[in-house]
Amino acid sequence: MSNPSLLILPGDGIGPEVMAEVRRIIDWYGDKRGLTFDVSEDLVGGAAYDKHGTPLHDDTMAKAQEVDAVLLGAVGGPKYDVLDFSVKPERGLLRLRKEMDLYANLRPAQCFDALADFSSLKKDVVAGLDIMIVRELTSGIYFGEPRGIIEEGNERVGINTQRYTESEIDRVARSAFELAMRRGKKVCSMEKANVMESGILWREVVTEVGKEYPEVELSHMYADAGAMQLCRWPKQFDVIVTDNLFGDLLSDAAAMLTGSLGMLPSASLGAPMANGRPKALYEPVHGSAPDIAGQGKANPIACVLSFAMALRYSFDQGAEAERLEKAIETVLADGVRTADLLGEEGATPVSTSGMGDAILAALD
Ligand code: NAI
Ligand code: MG
Repeated sequence: MSNPSLLILPGDGIGPEVMAEVRRIIDWYGDKRGLTFDVSEDLVGGAAYDKHGTPLHDDTMAKAQEVDAVLLGAVGGPKYDVLDFSVKPERGLLRLRKEMDLYANLRPAQCFDALADFSSLKKDVVAGLDIMIVRELTSGIYFGEPRGIIEEGNERVGINTQRYTESEIDRVARSAFELAMRRGKKVCSMEKANVMESGILWREVVTEVGKEYPEVELSHMYADAGAMQLCRWPKQFDVIVTDNLFGDLLSDAAAMLTGSLGMLPSASLGAPMANGRPKALYEPVHGSAPDIAGQGKANPIACVLSFAMALRYSFDQGAEAERLEKAIETVLADGVRTADLLGEEGATPVSTSGMGDAILAALD
């Protein structure tokens, strides 16, 4: 059998810096765990624009469609602000998501005990938190027609339309149930079925899909009540599945329960490929952080955790993903901190590669 394939797109700003640490970890898995990936690397975002005049070359797009998983750093930066919208670095990322049809966006909210003090919530509310928000990413109100700003009588009217087909709800619900089967076997679906027809259909379809997963406990919550529960007692959840708009808000709020942007991974999954693996793009939630780029200050953990998600969700290596997450937990418990994880007074921070060194040492 051939090795699993991974396309690495470091991108711009701190992207290449954090990705360099992930490459060392990928090499470690090859050397120490006999887990070898066919890794290829290419350009995306401003880096691709600089070389090809486009934020994503067609050859790179084609490659992304073939590999088992794509791992992306970050795109963008002030240097590219002057560019036309059509070639902005972000367009490279959007093209990947669109052409790979990545409809399920996975945003974990996970709290490492050593960082529980960082949360704006009480320590016992977040310590040990491990939930997953699945946000529908390719439909809903951000895409629905009609849309626009029109003149009506003497005033302007802004219009957006929430529209979901049964099949769009079905496939993202399936992603959520499949995830729950590998986790805590609970799915909570959030919509506003009390005031939105799209929410009524959402609830019906999720309930139908749920019948195929009798082992998974399904509950429903209105999204506003869900927002309250996320702040009050987030540990009641395992997997939350919701639409594009509510998911945008709920996943950002949930992310902040656990602290720094430098710690947050994500995955975007699409339909299963011929080998049964979903199309997949893994990336840290943060951007290219131009304010610290090139200074060795970036926290590589978000990107490393994105690779851990790839191990779990694309390569069926849940135990190896856990090994990596445990190593990070150890490093944090030992007090190793990049600058973003230090409070005002704080000890001396380690550099990006210093954090990489510590994670590798913990893995050994
Ligand atoms: P950002 O996430 O790049 O930075 C926000 C703040 O968090 C900055 O102070 C930064 O230094 C800090 N930060 C982010 N990641 C960090 C890490 N790993 N370690 C330590 N500190 C970290 O968001 P911002 O400043 O709004 O955007 C900067 C550029 O990135 C823009 O060009 C934006 O368009 C792009 N961007 C790209 C994204 C992506 O590639 N998915 C997502 C968000 C923004
Ligand atoms: Mg958002």
